[in-house]
Amino acid sequence: MNVKKPRGTSDILPAEMPAWRFVEDTCRKQAAIYGFSEIRFPTFESTELFARGVGGTTDIVQKEMYTFTDKDDRSMTLRPEGTACVCRSVVENGLYAASLPLKLYYLSNFFRYEKPQAGRTREFFQFGCECFGPSTPQADAEAILLGSSVIRELGIKGCTLHINSIGCADCRPQYRAALKEYFAAHYDELCDTCRARLETNPLRILDCKSPVCSAIAAGAPKTTDHLCDNCRAHYESLKSILANAGVDFVEDPRCVRGLDYYTGTVFEFVHGGIGAQAALGGGGRYNGLIAELGGPELPAIGFALGLSRLIMAMQTENVPLPGSAENSLYIAPLGAEAAEATASLCERLRARGVVCETDITGRSAKAQLKYADKSGHTFVAVIGSDELAAGTCELKNLRSGEKSSVRIDADELARVVKA
Ligand code: HAM
Repeated sequence: MNVKKPRGTSDILPAEMPAWRFVEDTCRKQAAIYGFSEIRFPTFESTELFARGVGGTTDIVQKEMYTFTDKDDRSMTLRPEGTACVCRSVVENGLYAASLPLKLYYLSNFFRYEKPQAGRTREFFQFGCECFGPSTPQADAEAILLGSSVIRELGIKGCTLHINSIGCADCRPQYRAALKEYFAAHYDELCDTCRARLETNPLRILDCKSPVCSAIAAGAPKTTDHLCDNCRAHYESLKSILANAGVDFVEDPRCVRGLDYYTGTVFEFVHGGIGAQAALGGGGRYNGLIAELGGPELPAIGFALGLSRLIMAMQTENVPLPGSAENSLYIAPLGAEAAEATASLCERLRARGVVCETDITGRSAKAQLKYADKSGHTFVAVIGSDELAAGTCELKNLRSGEKSSVRIDADELARVVKA
């Protein structure tokens, strides 16, 4: 049998894990610094959650969901994104009754049946943050600053923040009408998808990637020219908070996002060096979603960063990964008697928190030393009958080449290795 992984999925192999760990640790650290708590939610949910939450006119719901019928004839879907899941959990668990703002984050895998290409897979990982309660531009700014801080702490420099406001229930209908009128005049030139979007969701024509639609969209009315007084004041205030915080941004009237739940502020972190799938992450305000899912009127803002794209950006920019801070020891026994002694010594060292390995293969000392070096151990000690009789061994630092004589004693060895 020759079974391969499903198309659009990846194995994350041990050699790649340091980069993933660094990215995940940085996300967790920054989330904590900004006062966000972790939440986890099911890998699959009722299909209805995404149909209602993400929106029936989105590509996600129309084309990309992994939907199946379970043995009880219920329609289930592998989560294609996290915002609807978090909102469902907030409503179901009444989390909004606690003191607000409620600030939650997740590091999870998601599933979308998309055409795989560089930076786009069918299973992917996101760091997502959602803030419930405040409707202030300060809350928008905090979410943007948190996302920016992760990108900055990872050492990524070539990323640009795009911001826009797509208006609220009061001003969007008027903007929609203006867009419809504009695109209707170009109906014959639009691609088939955009012709359909003209009726269902004309905003989405603005981010169509086809060159013809894109050229037409460049002359389309701008959402920021159609905002109501509230949305305009909110947007202006957000811009000045970001400017005061020293965050560079570009105003991008074509940043409209691909999900239906957004209201007002939307934004994307775009990287110039990772190819066509250039968004490291994106988000925005979604003030109506909690009520849509049966909860109270509860304003919210959030975003998600794609972990594999963050790693791609770091690799493109040759950002070095921090080395492992922890020293480790490999003990190479010579002969059966020594192997028994080192097995128990190794275990005593592990009980003292020392990262420690010894031989479990029965191979030669030379092969063991090669293994110790390749595995990246800091120290190596060879212990045979002479060393056991003398009660001391030679500890070699594989990085500096320095050698020292150390008593064969767990406390003593632990002290030297951890120093
Ligand atoms: P999204 O723009 O669909 O937003 O996804 C956010 C990020 O996840 C993207 O910018 C990208 O980095 C990554 N991503 C999305 N799809 C893929 C894929 N197929 N392969 C690799 N990476 C991918 C959302 O999901 C919203 N829930 C964000 C949000 C949170 N809005 C408010 N709160």
